[in-house]
Amino acid sequence: MKDLALINNEDWYKTLVLECKAIITEAVFTSRWALVEGNMELGKRIREDINFKEYSKGNKRSVQDLARNIGQSERTLYYALQLFDIYKSVGNLPEGKNISMNKLITKYLPLYREEMIKNFEYKELPENLQIINGDFRQQKIKESSIDCIITDPPYPEEFLPLYEDLANFANKVLKPSKFCIAYSGHIHLDKVINLMSKYLQYYWIFAMYQPGPNKLIFSRDIMTRWKPILIFQKPPFKTLDYPIQDYIISEKREKSDHEWQQSESAVKNLIEQFTEINEIICDPFSGSGTFSKVAHELKRKAIGIEIDTTTYKISLQRIYG
Ligand SMILES: C[S@@+](CC[C@H](N)C(=O)[O-])C[C@H]1O[C@@H](n2cnc3c(N)ncnc32)[C@H](O)[C@@H]1O
Repeated sequence: MKDLALINNEDWYKTLVLECKAIITEAVFTSRWALVEGNMELGKRIREDINFKEYSKGNKRSVQDLARNIGQSERTLYYALQLFDIYKSVGNLPEGKNISMNKLITKYLPLYREEMIKNFEYKELPENLQIINGDFRQQKIKESSIDCIITDPPYPEEFLPLYEDLANFANKVLKPSKFCIAYSGHIHLDKVINLMSKYLQYYWIFAMYQPGPNKLIFSRDIMTRWKPILIFQKPPFKTLDYPIQDYIISEKREKSDHEWQQSESAVKNLIEQFTEINEIICDPFSGSGTFSKVAHELKRKAIGIEIDTTTYKISLQRIYG
């Protein structure tokens, strides 16, 4: 077999490498542009449908329902509609054929989140379901009143202190021997466990299996398929009343309302394993309200707390249905 260093200098090999790169560049360019064209066509098809236009008047769910029926996220449909509303044809797009859908979204299209709440109106939430707009550290929740905390704090390093605050909060508001269940990323897991251990007792770690493509964690060169879920307990230590399984499956990726939105199927499993009907569950990092919504559907009392007002409104809209 010839040495690679020698082959690298041979003309036929240099040509092969160059031509392969050109084919890939062309394919990436073509597929990127095809995606832009496809989105424009999608926006046009929907906007020019007279029946859909009539049906959408006063029906705030029309886009959401159509998205579900065609197996796309609501976000995808909103961007396609905005693309058509603003530019009408691919010939009018800024930056010509070099533009990608990603760049259009980040640089040229109105913010999807703001678009989502443009018709927002407050309505009363169902009994036993409360979503608070504010910082969880400033809420006056009665001490030892909560049966379970199930939550998903932000994972990046700069938010790590929030895990300590969460544990402190849990230590105050949870009933004795009740659980604080916190989703976590992998990279800072050691620090998260140390921070939470300042106020709570480590109990176990669950794995949430995530179907779909592997997620590559660049900083570690690891392809991961699971997410850690930490189980901490407010002292005194007490074992569960019955054995449960430490492996749960997130049935599908659900990201239509919030970039961090978690799956309903996985949290349903946690709620059923750790709580009883009528118990009180609190989610102090409520985001798009997934955990509170599912808790309420499972006949638990739910309290969600979300600091960001736009996200809070999106979560209410989602719960209103
Ligand atoms: C990872 S997201 C939660 C996603 C949520 N599980 C869902 O399914 O949509 C974390 C959320 O916590 C909120 N947050 C961050 N700090 C907070 C604080 N101090 N009090 C309340 N909410 C906070 C963020 O605005 C964000 O929406």
